[in-house]
Amino acid sequence: MEVLSSTAQGAIVPLPTTEFRLPPSPAATVKDISNSSTDVESCASSDLEGSVCEAVDELGTEGYRLYPLPPTPKRDNKVLPEDLKTPDNHVERDPRLIRLTGIHPFNVEAPLSDLYDEGFLTTKDLFYVRNHGPVPRVEDFEVLDWQFSIEGMVENPVKLTLRDLLREYEQFTYPITLVCAGNRRKEQNMVRKTKGFSWGAAGVSTALWTGVGLWDLLGRAMPKRGARYVCFEGADRLPNGYYGTSVKLNWAVDANRGILVAHKMNGEALHPDHGKPLRIVIPGQIGGRSVKWLKRIIVTARPSDNWYHIYDNRVLPTMVDPEQSANLPETWEDERYAIYDLNTNSAICYPAHDERVSLVEKGVEMYKFKGYAYAGGGKRVTRMEVTLDKGKTWRLANITYHEDQYRDAPDGETLYGGRVDMSWREACFCWCFWDLDIPLADLADAKDVMVRAMDDSMMVQPRDMYWSVLGMMNNPWFRVVIHKEDSGHSLRFEHPTQPALMPGGWMERVKKEGGNLSNGLWGEKVSGEDDTNTQKEAVAEKEICMTNPKINKDITIDELRKHDGEEHPWFVVNGQVYDGTKFLEAHPGGAASIVGAAGQDATEEFMTIHSENAKAMMPEYHIGSLDEKSKTLLSEPEPAESEKTRPVFLQSKAWNKAIIIQKKQISADTKIFTFKLNHDKQTVGLPIGQHLMMRLRDPATREAIIRAYTPISEGTGRGILHVLVKIYYKTADREGGKMTLALDSLPIGHPVDFKGPVGKFEYLGKGRCTINSKERRVKRFVMVCAGSGITPIFQVLRAVMKDREDETKCVVLDGNRVEEDILCKEELDKMAQGNEEKCKLIYTLSKPSDEWKGLRGRMDQGLFEREVGAPRKGDDTMVLICGPEAMEKSVHRIFNGLGWRDEDLLFF
Ligand code: MTE
Repeated sequence: MEVLSSTAQGAIVPLPTTEFRLPPSPAATVKDISNSSTDVESCASSDLEGSVCEAVDELGTEGYRLYPLPPTPKRDNKVLPEDLKTPDNHVERDPRLIRLTGIHPFNVEAPLSDLYDEGFLTTKDLFYVRNHGPVPRVEDFEVLDWQFSIEGMVENPVKLTLRDLLREYEQFTYPITLVCAGNRRKEQNMVRKTKGFSWGAAGVSTALWTGVGLWDLLGRAMPKRGARYVCFEGADRLPNGYYGTSVKLNWAVDANRGILVAHKMNGEALHPDHGKPLRIVIPGQIGGRSVKWLKRIIVTARPSDNWYHIYDNRVLPTMVDPEQSANLPETWEDERYAIYDLNTNSAICYPAHDERVSLVEKGVEMYKFKGYAYAGGGKRVTRMEVTLDKGKTWRLANITYHEDQYRDAPDGETLYGGRVDMSWREACFCWCFWDLDIPLADLADAKDVMVRAMDDSMMVQPRDMYWSVLGMMNNPWFRVVIHKEDSGHSLRFEHPTQPALMPGGWMERVKKEGGNLSNGLWGEKVSGEDDTNTQKEAVAEKEICMTNPKINKDITIDELRKHDGEEHPWFVVNGQVYDGTKFLEAHPGGAASIVGAAGQDATEEFMTIHSENAKAMMPEYHIGSLDEKSKTLLSEPEPAESEKTRPVFLQSKAWNKAIIIQKKQISADTKIFTFKLNHDKQTVGLPIGQHLMMRLRDPATREAIIRAYTPISEGTGRGILHVLVKIYYKTADREGGKMTLALDSLPIGHPVDFKGPVGKFEYLGKGRCTINSKERRVKRFVMVCAGSGITPIFQVLRAVMKDREDETKCVVLDGNRVEEDILCKEELDKMAQGNEEKCKLIYTLSKPSDEWKGLRGRMDQGLFEREVGAPRKGDDTMVLICGPEAMEKSVHRIFNGLGWRDEDLLFF
């Protein structure tokens, strides 16, 4: 409907929509307010100054509404105890919502029957929530001053407040269904684990949204010629930057697409979980594009480069598996795989999962099957079909489109201060409900019931699942299995899955029974089917047991917290408590790695860092389970703003963010990343020779990746931190490095988490060092390193060389492949220059150029024999070693062979 015209300046301006509006249809005669309720408070509570919210808004222009109004929301929601210790401790919520990702962030869906029972419109209480991180806190008094910008390729960039929106723009109220692209993902996860968490079939909800048309706003901002996309950015700061995404400009300027900048939901100010005070609402598209807590609208020539736009909300080709996907940046960036319009989908809500129906109740011969369906991009669900014989024959169900009732609203009708302007619009942006009476006798003869929807382009839901790595847009026929029970007197219905980790559903059952869910027959065994594959899968999925079956003790959080020191450090992994005392000495990362986790939940860190072998050792240290109450209390709040003023950046027990401010390439594959600490005077707080932990999110899975690094800046340096990182790019014969590629892909301005210090070695100066807190004196260091293994060695060497009174001697043996692989060479050479007595630098290259004047060849037995030799009595030498695992192993072997004892060798 929208026509674009070019202005003299080359700007593209949408023409006003009113010119194209069709005349209003005659007022409908049906009075359908079955889903409505009288809710005077809902307006009163939304005290937006200047808002045109009417005090009593149930009565339309003609004295009654012809369309559904929302059910009464609950007024007694509280901040729930489990949220108190999280950054969302200001958000009141309904305890019926099912949490899909633990306590925080808040990702929830309602029980499916409760959602359906609310009717066409969902209250804020049961509306699904998808939050990638903490909910920004916005007080009521700040709402009207909430500012956002329209910028980028526009003639008139502006900054607007919500007050300006209310005063200067026309308001609209539309019913719009939002659906998370992950709706029904649990079914995909049952077939094969995707990278997403397990939504049931209730990741969908509908509300009346009030706000300003994006087409109006962009009309005033005047997009420039060449502009093709509109990016949105929210105020929620996440591990990979602010949440943001984009849609095409031609949709955004099209009133028929109905994109709103909304400030009310069901007539009330937006609930904090749903974007208080301002959000985008994009009808017909996946919920992921409807950015909440809106701060920026940016008109661009290219799609958004926001991390969440690239690594979320995509359907990658089915053959890309989770492991491969982590190393396919170009695939992720391929716009063909980005999801915009929803695909057609449907589900059975009644019978509910585990519902039982009697076959012998007098006078009852039918069961009414009920559910929902939706289509995307404004399409309409035109057909709903039900089969009782696996698709051989189908029955037509009835469809109710409540959305159509709003089209019949009288001309000029307003609701919640916004015009219900839908009479002219053909598009369908809401779910519809379907129902079908099925004779109980037919059900008694059937094994299952399946449903499928068709849309007005005759696209019908597929029979089979299209599995993809993010598990999105799952829409195969929805299947409910029928079990005959009670000696054939009753039926029990079984849905495919239950949300989150909730047990139940035929998919889980079939899988446990060894059925193959991807055999095209819903996992049912066919005679002669070879089930070796299934068994193989089962083996691959077997998890390592980290608990001791003989231990059966509940531990409280108070007991745990008493063990938060060096004495007897206890820590928690997956709700189980472990005593790390016996492993303090042996831990490869030094005692500090365990002590740093003492008294805390170390699940994320432990699970990401440790190998299968390490996990298999855990039963030995298992001492009990944290009781349920304590589990809730343990979730760690974000550090308060005030804490950021502390003088030292690193904390051993809490992650802290520093911002990337520079990436400096120093060789083909190595960069120095510079991070800005919380304030200019803050010191890093890293003792010489120790490391810090860096935590990032995997771009694809958002799982934490944690690695230890030794910065090259000094631990006493202020305000800033330099970390040298060798980036393991993907090559023909090597997968790329998970951590280093993720780090490299972060944009300037992105936060990264740090924690520490860790490590068993510390150099105190003048030949004094400690190993696991035991002091030792050395007269000479032999430092053996390769590649980026130079970093901890560099720290120690610099400390020795900087202090003129430090008489410790150093021999550095640095082995690499080619000249440019020698990291920090200039700095090393400078340190040694004129100090040859104190410091001897030996570089050796395995593939040097002809110009290379130094040693040639690998660091081998001959080199160490010549340059180091056997230990000498009274020599007090320590050998510091850092490099790739294979190199460390061979150095270990050679030094042992030369007579060096293990206590004189230190592997970083
Ligand atoms: N906007 C911001 N700023 N942050 C988010 O985490 N999640 C998106 C979208 N907008 C998100 C966001 C996703 S993936 C979905 S499905 C919808 O919000 C969910 O909206 P709701 O929580 O109001 O139901």
